[in-house]
Order: sequence, then structure tokens, then C-alpha cells
Amino acid sequence: MSPTSSSSPLKSSPLELPINIIPLPVGIQRAERIPFHWNATTKIHSLGNETLPIEKYLSESLAQRTGITAGKASSGSNTIVLQVTPSFIIDGPDWAIAEAYQLICTPQQITIVARTPHGLFNGVQTLIQLVTSSNDQWVVPSLTIDDHPRFQWRGLMLDCCRHFSTVPEVCRLIDLMAFYKLNTFHWHLTEDQGWRIEVKAYPRLTEVGAWRSESPVMGEAKVGDGQPYGGFYTQDDLRTVVAYAATRHVTVIPEIEMPGHCTACIASYPELGNDDIPEWRVPETGTKWGVIARTLSPKEETFDFIAKVFDEILPIFPSPYVHIGGDEAPKEEWKNSPFAQKVMKENGLQDEHELQSYFIRRVEKLLHERGKKLIGWDEIQEGGLSPSATMMVWRDWKWAKQALELGNNIIVTHNEHTYFDYGQGEKPEGPEYEMIGNERTLDKVYHFDPIPEGTPPGRIHQVLGCQGQLWCEFIWSPDKLDYMIWPRACALAEVAWSPLKSKDFTGFQQRLVPHLDRFDALKVNYRKADGSPAKPYASMTRRFMRPPLT
Ligand code: ACM
Repeated sequence: MSPTSSSSPLKSSPLELPINIIPLPVGIQRAERIPFHWNATTKIHSLGNETLPIEKYLSESLAQRTGITAGKASSGSNTIVLQVTPSFIIDGPDWAIAEAYQLICTPQQITIVARTPHGLFNGVQTLIQLVTSSNDQWVVPSLTIDDHPRFQWRGLMLDCCRHFSTVPEVCRLIDLMAFYKLNTFHWHLTEDQGWRIEVKAYPRLTEVGAWRSESPVMGEAKVGDGQPYGGFYTQDDLRTVVAYAATRHVTVIPEIEMPGHCTACIASYPELGNDDIPEWRVPETGTKWGVIARTLSPKEETFDFIAKVFDEILPIFPSPYVHIGGDEAPKEEWKNSPFAQKVMKENGLQDEHELQSYFIRRVEKLLHERGKKLIGWDEIQEGGLSPSATMMVWRDWKWAKQALELGNNIIVTHNEHTYFDYGQGEKPEGPEYEMIGNERTLDKVYHFDPIPEGTPPGRIHQVLGCQGQLWCEFIWSPDKLDYMIWPRACALAEVAWSPLKSKDFTGFQQRLVPHLDRFDALKVNYRKADGSPAKPYASMTRRFMRPPLT
């Protein structure tokens, strides 16, 4: 983009340069009216080796946007100074200190100081958003920003099972997340309709479970399209994504679902199913959407399988947390399986919900033995919540309140506010716009508070944060994915980062305008206010994946 090409209505004289940062920082103090100029003489001075990758990121981002490449400096004027120092401190918990930064801009120099590279990276994102065009020059308004996050968990979940996203597509999403200081990518990797990770000890998971014979037709969910569909990530692919995310200070949390949503796994290894039920048949990888009444059997063989999968997959992910799903596990099979009933009797379990809790606790032990912590959807509370589990609340606030009273940590993923697979108001006609009903508008996302009403002050620290979810039944292409996520994820980022008292939807909408310009420049297909897609050439129809090689 050239300095004059911005269509932002907020473009103004240098005396009143706009500040359009999303998420809104905690404190902004404007200073003198002369701005800093980003031009061919600007240099970047970075103090310490750990700041070098961030210097490179800043330099490349601004060069791409402005066409101007900064030089290197050891000091002097017209310089941007990046510094990580242990003497930088704010009042707050360790996680907030680690992500905090201060940015001071004067006409001569910009300095960004933080305690950690992550804090510095956050400050750099703010700086990139501050660079604006005025009178054919690139400038940064003189000001001081003191900033830190409200919540430590600011997440986005992507389901790569119902429809697949390639490694470059996943990395692109992580890059866009980082721009809005979203720091956690929750990667939903196994499902009824597709197992998406290579496990060398269990090759059939990707020979069989990664493929389905067909999918529902777009716009007609009950009809099959007859087209084989699938794909999976090799372990090298997973490493590529994790390494890329690290450069963006984003943590990747893998989700390996159990004991429900496991049809693809059971299709691959039928002995893991409840195969002692009379008339039980080996399933095929799911071809319809919705909950499928299949569960893993609570056999020792199943726990051995899970342990071996963990042994291969968990070392790839440095994150302390692993998500094990736990949602929507139908209990019919366990009711009808003599073996499952025997496990219940031997362990004094009153019903199948307690059997689910038994199952989850056994899996949690496997995670603890491998130095990891368990996260599950809020169904893990039914039948008894493990005291050390972290719960994602997606159904009802009552689960959040109960978990907080029990002393558990929660992440709020409430479907009424954070489910980006749901509709978001007006939309064009056509099967490619199929989505789940009900409106999760930008406004509804923005006006949500992750702290459940009535939470006592002493329990607020148990709310780790919030997260947007993109379930991908109706996400047939990258353009549809973008359309559902943006700009709602910008609103979510502000909920997760900015102080509650600064919430202002009108102000947010005004600040959003130049961000939409940036999406246009980057060819990100966001939803426009009238419901139409931003990219006139947007293709939201299904992209077919290569069928398995035989
Ligand atoms: C969920 O939406 N089933 C967690």
C-alpha cells in the first residue's frame, strides 16, 4: 500500500493522528503533536540477542506495508529501540508481567521495553498498528502506551477434522491471530469424521481414519456427495506449525478427543470400540455431521493405545496443556456393553457419567506422568470433575460457576458468544453460506464478559480467559473460514485483552475500519457489515481433497 491509498475515514492531519489499536491498550497518553517519521533514514536498534527475531519481524512487517526498509543502528535519532530487561515491572501476576510492555514515541525515537520477548513482541504489534499515513508520509503519533493483558488465555480453536486446513493455511491464521495478541491456538485434530495426525505405532489411523467416503452436500446436510475426502498432518507438519507459532509467541494446544467423537479411530482399530455389544458393527469414518453414538471402550487396551499416542504426539507440543475433548460422549454403548458394565461394578461407579469421569481421570494420570495438564469441555464435570482439570465452558454458565466453586480453573468458550461457526446476522443467499442458525453478531461477541456474573473476587483468578471456536462442518474453503472468523476474532481479542471498563462498541467499530483495509490488502475474506464477503472473487464452495493413495 502507498501512504495515500488508505481509504480509512479516520485519516486526518498530523495534529490529530488516529490511534486505531485493536485490542485497545490499557493506557494511552498522547504527547506533543509532532510525530515520529518512519522513512529511509529510520534505524532499528535492538538490545540483546533474544530481541533479534522480533527486530526482523518488525522490519519485515513495516517494509511490506510501507515499502521502506529500516537500517540498523547502535544509537542516534530517528531510531526504534527494542529492549528486554528484567528491571521492567508492572503490578500484576507473573503472566501479565510477562506479556506487558511500554511503548514511548517521541519525534526523535520510539522505545519499546518489556520483561520478556513475548511482551516486546506485543509492543511491536502495537507499533505496527500505530504506523499510519499522513500527507504522503509514514508517521507514528507521539505518545506513551502502558499495556498488559486482562486474561492470560486468549484463544482461537480450529477444527481441522470436518474440513481440513493445510499447513500454510494454519500458519496464516496463527499470523493473523498474533497481530491481535491472541496467544493460544487450540487445534482440534481428531474427530468422528477424520483423524488428522500421523501416529507411527498406529498407521491405520491415517490409512483409514483420515479418510471418509463422502461428505454432506453443501446446503443439503442429509445428502451425501459421493466424493472421498480427507487428509492428515505428518509429525513433521505438526512440528512446522508449532515452530512457526513460536515465532509469533502463540502456544499450540493439541486436542485429541475421547471417549466420544472417536468414530474414525474405532474405524481404524475396531478392537478399541465396545465390540462385545451383540450386533455391534465396525463403523466407517463418519460421513454425516452431528453426534455419532460411538465411544471408546474402557478397556486396558484402550488406555495402552492412548498412552502410545501420547508418547509420540505430546513431545511435539511444548505447551503444558493437552485438550482431551470429553464432550458429547453418548452413553448408549456403555449401557449395552457387558464389559463397560463390569468396569463400572468393579470400580463402584453409579452410572455411565461416573464411568466417563473414571475414563477422564485415567487419561489425566497418563498426562501427568508425561508432565502435562488436562483440559476438557464442560461435560468432564458430569460424573465428577477431577480437582486438577481445567474446563472449557461451552454450554451454560452454571458449569462455570460450579467449577469455580470447586476450585478448578476455567476457560470460557460459551457458544452464545464465541462459536464462530454460528451465523452472524444478514448473509447472502446460497448453499455456500450454510451455517448453524442463531446470531453470534460482532456486537454479541464484543459485549461478552468471561467472568461469570456473581463470581466472588477471590475466584476471578480461576478464569484463565476466553476463546473463539470454529467448528468446520460448513467451512469448505479458506475463504469461508476467513468469512466466519474476521472481524469477530478482533472483537474477541479486545474482550480478552482490554480492561472491562474501556469497553466501547462504537469506538471499536471506528478503530476497526483501517483493520478492514489491511484485511483487503492481505486478501483476508472478512464479513462486511451488510453480511457480504469482502473478497468479490471469494470462493466459498467446497475444495476437494486428494483421496488416499492406494
Ligand atoms: C462442543 O461444541 N461440542 C464442545
